[in-house]
Amino acid sequence: MPVAKEVFPGVYSIDGRLATRNLVKGRSVYGENLVTVDKTEYRMWTPYRSKLAAAVMNKLRTFAFKEGSSVLYLGASNGTTPSHVSDIIGKKGRLFGVEISERSMRDFVALCEKRENMLPLLADARRIESYSGVVGNGSCDIIYQDVSAKEQAEILEKNAVFLKKGGYAYLAIKSQSIDISREPKEVYKEVLHYLENTFEILEQLSLEPYDSAHLFAVLRKR
Ligand SMILES: C[S@@+](CC[C@H](N)C(=O)[O-])C[C@H]1O[C@@H](n2cnc3c(N)ncnc32)[C@H](O)[C@@H]1O
Repeated sequence: MPVAKEVFPGVYSIDGRLATRNLVKGRSVYGENLVTVDKTEYRMWTPYRSKLAAAVMNKLRTFAFKEGSSVLYLGASNGTTPSHVSDIIGKKGRLFGVEISERSMRDFVALCEKRENMLPLLADARRIESYSGVVGNGSCDIIYQDVSAKEQAEILEKNAVFLKKGGYAYLAIKSQSIDISREPKEVYKEVLHYLENTFEILEQLSLEPYDSAHLFAVLRKR
């Protein structure tokens, strides 16, 4: 009989593999397996598909997501990682999913129809004024940012206005989107240095072997 061991609030390890409790019973989001343990249905969470799962596998220490959290998710794409965050924060939580691509947004909207704690925002995360009427200033516990854009540091800096003081930011930095010609290490250093006025840098994690294109950082708003 498999056992589900809680490793962080709402995150479980089942036979050494990560999972979240399925908020929408019987539904798989991106082809992940559903597993029932002690009458509770879980969705397996693969670190090869989700950088947050990869960070947990790679000994992330600061896990701020919990039941009832309010999350601004930048780069929601078609909802793979957002769906697991939605499981974790539960019905009392709220996820605002910002995505620039209309094509990805179509899938994400369909997912939000099934998951009432997620709200889709078709918008450019560089233009915060387009959603500042929906996401209140200082209202979010967490910003999760995974955008494949050049201005990644500036995007987080601008969006920090939505974060509570002491709130957390999870940032997947893709050096190739910023400058393909430079050493990734230099680019990561520059991004984090840029953010230091607004944020305290708590953790920096490699996502190898699950992902080799990003540095994953955890920050706290000053
Ligand atoms: C790597 S994907 C995100 C994957 C998602 N975080 C997950 O784990 O399921 C990056 C997404 O960022 C979006 N994106 C890029 N620039 C953006 C911007 N300026 N504003 C909003 N979304 C953006 C892309 O369209 C893409 O869907």
